[in-house]
Amino acid sequence: MVIKDCYSLSEAAEILGKSKETLRRWDKEGKFPALREPISEYRIYKKEDINNLLKPLFDNIIEEVDNFEKPLKEYKVLELFAGAGGLAIGLEKAGIKCAALNEIDKWACQTLRENRPNWNVLEGDIKTFNFEKYKGEVDIVTGGFPCQAFSYAGKRLGLEDARGTLFYEFARTVKEVNPPICIGENVKGLRSHEKGETLKGMLSILDEIGYNVVPVQVLKAINYKVPQKRERLILVGIRKDIDIKYEYPKPYQAIYNLSDALKKGVLYDSNVPKSEGSKYPQHKKEVLDLIPPKGYWRDLPIDIQKEYMGKSFYLGGGKTGMARRIGWDEPSLTLTCSPAQKQTERCHPDETRPFTVREYARIQTFPDEWKFMGSVSQQYKQIGNAVPCNLGKEIGYSIVKFLNDYYSSLSNPK
Ligand SMILES: C[S@@+](CC[C@H](N)C(=O)[O-])C[C@H]1O[C@@H](n2cnc3c(N)ncnc32)[C@H](O)[C@@H]1O
Repeated sequence: MVIKDCYSLSEAAEILGKSKETLRRWDKEGKFPALREPISEYRIYKKEDINNLLKPLFDNIIEEVDNFEKPLKEYKVLELFAGAGGLAIGLEKAGIKCAALNEIDKWACQTLRENRPNWNVLEGDIKTFNFEKYKGEVDIVTGGFPCQAFSYAGKRLGLEDARGTLFYEFARTVKEVNPPICIGENVKGLRSHEKGETLKGMLSILDEIGYNVVPVQVLKAINYKVPQKRERLILVGIRKDIDIKYEYPKPYQAIYNLSDALKKGVLYDSNVPKSEGSKYPQHKKEVLDLIPPKGYWRDLPIDIQKEYMGKSFYLGGGKTGMARRIGWDEPSLTLTCSPAQKQTERCHPDETRPFTVREYARIQTFPDEWKFMGSVSQQYKQIGNAVPCNLGKEIGYSIVKFLNDYYSSLSNPK
């Protein structure tokens, strides 16, 4: 039983995005001491202390980081698995031109065409396209390939061993196009997928097709002007003949919160436009009505906790996403493809409802003018799948910096 106003170790770890081991170590080292639950002696943390640790760092920030980099010439990208264009918009904002985008989902393709009639949208299964004609035409291949397991038997993987997976299609395209730089984007979980073997396999395949991979990093969107705690793993491959260092975009100090996303302020110069959105079923609404901003299932009376959580009540883990209401002064938790799932509820702070489509889009830092096509659930899916545009822009600057250095080195050899 965790004391009210306190978080358990798993909850605190989940909220802070740290492992339980890290928190235990911080406790032992006196860096962030835990309290003890009187009967069990388990580590617990005052909610207030955790919230203070997360407090937006606005006061007196003098931002020293600026990743902006102007392209020295026109750089072009072939964007695979383009979805509704989150990464593509970000790259465009960084000054990179989209030469072509591939996507299988017809609604996402309609979204891309509706907003950018000039973009060359290649609709269909990536397997059916040959991209050789882009060789020498584009400088970058990017793609958020869905993560799938390979049959890996401890041996060094080659391209052909991955056949049948979407990573194979990504790597095949990179091989066909042979650009100076390629960027794969994925969920953080790829690092631990199949105990790290999936990622290891990907690195050996990129090596086989002629690319060195920069040490893999997980970028936290909140460090890149995104009011959401989303994390993306970035896989950067540099063609082996190029001896230029790639550097990840530097994190900003300022952290933005839900209020910055939905209200007029630093990120947007107007309040969020009205739009459609899904609703909670009546019973769920009655339960969520009892939750305060920044609260979650543990804020319910115990009998309702048990009834609402069902079997999950007795399972371990913090489950801090269940019956969660976001507060105005915190970044949103990661948005998913559907806004009312039980494990990942993100209720509006003042009203008992999921975020609307336009609120979802703001939290992902899409521009208000960007229209989404298809039914409301198709729109949520496209937004929830996206790389936040502001994160994409910062990744874009890092690519521009790399390409500027590369092309300058060709015209001014050492
Ligand atoms: C994670 S989303 C990419 C999001 C996108 N990068 C953005 O920033 O908005 C992955 C996309 O891959 C697409 N996809 C899945 N299988 C595909 C295939 N076989 N061929 C082409 N696209 C595919 C999905 O429809 C989905 O839109």
